[in-house]
This record gives sequence, C-alpha cells and structure tokens, in this order.
Amino acid sequence: MTKATETASRRRVLAGLAAGAAAGFLPARFAIGQQAKVKLGLMLPYTGTYAALGKNIDEAFRLALAEKGGRLGGREVEYVVLDDESDPAKGAENANKLVSRDKVDVLIGTVHSGVAMAMVKVATDNDSLLIIPNAGADAATGPACAPNIFRTSFSNWQPGFAMGKVAAARGQKRAVAVSWDYAAGHESINGFKEGFAAGGGKVENELLLPFPQVEFQAILTQIAALKPELVYTFFAGGGAVKFVKDYAAAGLGNSVPLVGAGFLTDGTLAAQGAAAQGLETTLHYADGLDLPKDKAFRAAFKKAANREADVYAVQGYDTGQLLVAGLAAVKGEVTARKELIAAMEKAEIDSPRGKFTLSKAHNPVQDIYLRKVQGLENRYVSVAAKALADPARGCKMV
Ligand code: PHB
Repeated sequence: MTKATETASRRRVLAGLAAGAAAGFLPARFAIGQQAKVKLGLMLPYTGTYAALGKNIDEAFRLALAEKGGRLGGREVEYVVLDDESDPAKGAENANKLVSRDKVDVLIGTVHSGVAMAMVKVATDNDSLLIIPNAGADAATGPACAPNIFRTSFSNWQPGFAMGKVAAARGQKRAVAVSWDYAAGHESINGFKEGFAAGGGKVENELLLPFPQVEFQAILTQIAALKPELVYTFFAGGGAVKFVKDYAAAGLGNSVPLVGAGFLTDGTLAAQGAAAQGLETTLHYADGLDLPKDKAFRAAFKKAANREADVYAVQGYDTGQLLVAGLAAVKGEVTARKELIAAMEKAEIDSPRGKFTLSKAHNPVQDIYLRKVQGLENRYVSVAAKALADPARGCKMV
C-alpha cells in the first residue's frame, strides 16, 4: 500500500467507525477486511419422541436464512448444533455449553418446555439472546419474561384456551383432560379449563402420565368408566401418534369425542392413518389457509427437505425470519443489543400461519384456528380465537 492509499483506507475505516458510533453502536469484533460470522446455537431434540419436531424446526430455520442468501445482516452464519434429547435434566448444562464454551451470539431452542426453561435461566444469567421456536412454557413469556427472550411459536395457554371456548360454545359441560405430567401438559390443560369454564364447562378429571411414557391402557380404561362428554388432550410427536391410535383401538372414538391442542395431529397424520380421521383440534396453523406466503413456504420446504411442512417447520422458518429482520436493522452487529431487540419487537412477521406481531412479553399475538382432520390434512374450519394474546401473567414488561 502506498502512503496515500493507506491514508485513504485509514480514513474509510475511521469514517466507518464514526458512522457506527453515530448509529449508536460500534462493531464488537472489528477485523479489517473480514467480519466474524454470526454464531447460532441450535439446541433442539434430534432424537426421542420429539425428534421429528426438532428436525423440521432446524431445516425450516435454515431455509429462511437461505432465502436471504444465507447471511444475517450481511454476515455469514455459523451453526453449532446440539441434541437436547428433550431431557430437562441436561438442559442447563447443554445451554451453558453453547453460551460459555461455544460463545454463540444467539441461542435458539427448544421444543420441550422443561428444557426451554433451563435455557431461559441460562439466557437470563448470561444476558444471552434466546429465541424459542416451539416450547410453550407459559413462564418464558410470563414471570420469566425478559428483553433478551423471544418466542415465535405460542404459549401452552393459547391453543388450550381456544379449544375450551369452542367446546363450551357447543354446550359441552363435562370433560376429562389427558396429558403428560410436565409443564406443557399442565399449562395446556389450564388454558383449556379457563376457556371451558368461561362458558360453563368443567374438567372433572385430569389423567397424567410421566413424559415421555406411552403406556395409555390404564388411562383409556378410566375414560371409558368416567364417560365424559369429551376428552381434551395435549400430546405431540411420537406420543401423539400412539395416543390417537390407542384411543381409536380402545373403541372410544365413537363414544367420547377426542379434541386437543393441534400438536395431537400435526406432523403425525401419515403415522396415525384412519385413527385420526375427523379429529378436531386448535392451533396457530392449519391446512388450507389459502395464503400466498403459506403456499410459497410449503413448496420451498418440500424442495429443501423432501417432506411436507407442518407447524414446527413454520415456527422454525419464522424464527429465521425474526432474526433476519432484527439483524438487518443492525447490519449484522449482534452486540448492538438495544437496537436489535427494538427491531425484533416491532417486526411484523409474514408467517405461513398468517401475519403476526409480538406482544410486549415477546410472544406471538395470533389467530388460533379450529381444524378438522381430513385425509392427511388438518383442514381449516374457522378462527377459534382471533388475534389471541397470551395473558402474560407475572411478566413485568407488560
Ligand atoms: C412443550 O413442551 O412445550 C411442547 C412440546 C411439543 C409440542 C408443543 C409443546 O408439540
């Protein structure tokens, strides 16, 4: 370099720094001619009953970035992938690995509410940016809400509450609730109870079994004896497949209607077959929404992953979209935390589920659809709850 060009390039660097300072932030890892990659920690279940859910989130997340040239705010992306096995006991250690050992810029995960709450704690302790692409743990956008914690999926309360309203509006009064004995099951049932009670309904019995057990016989025998007007359930993934099949095999399908949060039949229909036909559920996604964004997404996902999209793929994609929007606003500078959060908070996500925004607690405000299984589809029936916001009880940001 000649003296003149050196001075000119020095001047450009200084001008760049001044512009950065004027915009309210400075590049953290400044290296001339080379920007550090944005490091993303994907902590998801790649094995176990929720494996298919984790894989769809992963692939659709990458698809959202690939559609933007594989970069975030102009910077290349590096992935660190960790299988959390949906094991809450390993949650803190796994999240700490990503934060402390791998030094990821953004923590993304997970599916299981118990594991997600361990991630929330680690993110809170380390002030890490966390985006939850599935787990509905009410607390994440309730008592544990924080500026650095976002969710692109739902709270467990949301689909449950909507289904409770639907059942009550039909004049049903006596329900039994069935689920796994962990946060997601309890909270989904509580949401249902709240919606159901508002219309005069009551959950008379809650039948629970440890996650991820699938020995349903004792529970099915109890349901047959209790003879409720309907059964509300929260199950997902491999467990949902088995429950729906066992319910039909027990002969209950004809006498006691089975409803649930839509995870019961999402991504599971090929495996459930005839047993799932006619089941009605509530969820923030459905087949037949007739949205251009949904059609484009499904085609792109099918091409990329060689399988059909489902609600988990949608959530993974939207996690990517939220990060794309946030990092575009700060030109890839993840350490410009205040500006990044502000951009993410005000993003309107053009989701395959329909457009949504985030609440003050950082949870989607979204339509919850009533769907009915027809063939391999959860066909859209109606909007069960319009622009439903989680109450975010206990969140100090609200
Ligand atoms: C959860 O643990 O919050 C959870 C897991 C699987 C789902 C939905 C929620 O499909």
